[in-house]
Amino acid sequence: MSRLVFDFNNAMAQRVSHGFEITSNDEAMLKKAHSAMKAKEMGFRSLPTGQEEILDDIIAAASDIAERFNNFVVLGIGGSALGPIAVHRALDTGHSGMNFIVEDNVDPERLKRTFDGLDLKKTMFNVVTKSGKTSETMAQMMTVAGMLKKAGLKLTDHMIATTDKQNGNLALIAKKEGLKTFVLPDSVGGRFSELSPVGLLPAAVCGHNIRSMLEGAAHMDEVCSRKDKNPAAMFALLHVMGMKKGMNLSVMMPYADSLKYISDWYAQLWAESLGKKVDLNGNVVFVGPTPIKTLGVTDQHSQVQLYVEGPFDKIVTFLKVDKFRNDLEIPAAFEYVDDIAFLGGKTFGQLLKAEQSATEYALVAANRPNITITLSEVDEFSVGALLYFFEMATAYAGEMMGINTFDQPGVEEGKLATFALMGKSGFEEKKLQMDALPKRKEKWIMQ
Ligand code: PA5
Repeated sequence: MSRLVFDFNNAMAQRVSHGFEITSNDEAMLKKAHSAMKAKEMGFRSLPTGQEEILDDIIAAASDIAERFNNFVVLGIGGSALGPIAVHRALDTGHSGMNFIVEDNVDPERLKRTFDGLDLKKTMFNVVTKSGKTSETMAQMMTVAGMLKKAGLKLTDHMIATTDKQNGNLALIAKKEGLKTFVLPDSVGGRFSELSPVGLLPAAVCGHNIRSMLEGAAHMDEVCSRKDKNPAAMFALLHVMGMKKGMNLSVMMPYADSLKYISDWYAQLWAESLGKKVDLNGNVVFVGPTPIKTLGVTDQHSQVQLYVEGPFDKIVTFLKVDKFRNDLEIPAAFEYVDDIAFLGGKTFGQLLKAEQSATEYALVAANRPNITITLSEVDEFSVGALLYFFEMATAYAGEMMGINTFDQPGVEEGKLATFALMGKSGFEEKKLQMDALPKRKEKWIMQ
């Protein structure tokens, strides 16, 4: 069984002077958060073991899609897109035969290029939106419906909906048009939904073992429910302690291209869940850590200078892989150049791991706290476990910060303003509010 190992040594003051010492107050906060988490109903926690009834349906739909189509296109954004992208990039080995595309943005140039390149007869679209009213996703869905109609193809043959049981426009349209629909449980919010049909259907369509993903998550649920030696609670505690001493930046640095998009997914989870104006008692607190997405080794040659010598405002988390699915030997060459001879006979896997250890060392030598999470290998089990670990860590952090982890009023505000700008009826008042902002001054605009 693949495993995840969490090493917090380099975050502790005994090893790095800007690290942490866990006091009895911190222990008490940990204990309190643990009890609160035990008592709390959190929708995402039912996903690892609570979906037996729909798994067969997802797997059957996926195998039918894989047989009949070459392209599987997810139309969705935020929590409806970042999980499917992260899992696909982590697990794809290029052999599934399925061209998997996620259209989250509404950049017209990108959309036109994607849509023009599709053979619609061989394409299945999966529209994913929890609220069923997000403008980006609805606009894409309307466009695809038009394209299918023009091509003389039936909507029901080429579109599947993933949405709320009854609320929202997508549920309404799906019912009216007779679309095959997967339901996103009420209590599971977008960014916590990757292990629901939102992420499971795309993963299964691409040939990944979704039962194994859920087993990884279920295993992590046990690990992260422990009273002691609980890595999710510790990850949260270190970041909450960090915020108290001005370390507000959480750098996610996978040393594997396959895990690059886990950083994007983590950034949404961490930022949207923990960046809040008010606490649970209604006090204005303006709290939240800022996630930073990076990739090792690439960003070693771009951002690491700042991390090693800049302000003491970051905690770096490395994601490390023990065994790569492929490796490549560096042959001996140019023997007359002594300076590079040491590379010959080593592998790229060895080089990548050495680079990670070297960055870790540089941070420790500069007294910068960092954490390393090692995946024995990247497979369905470890990816399910990793995602679930971060979901639990986020829930613990929100608990310790005393905020609502599961709402996103700031995102909603932007959605409402978009409605107003695009002329949706009922949003005239919002448009007036927007127009009432102080006027722009010419002197502050330069050409
Ligand atoms: O986590 C969230 O709730 C959000 O980021 C949503 O996923 C995102 O805004 C898209 O919303 P919806 O799924 O309702 O279209």
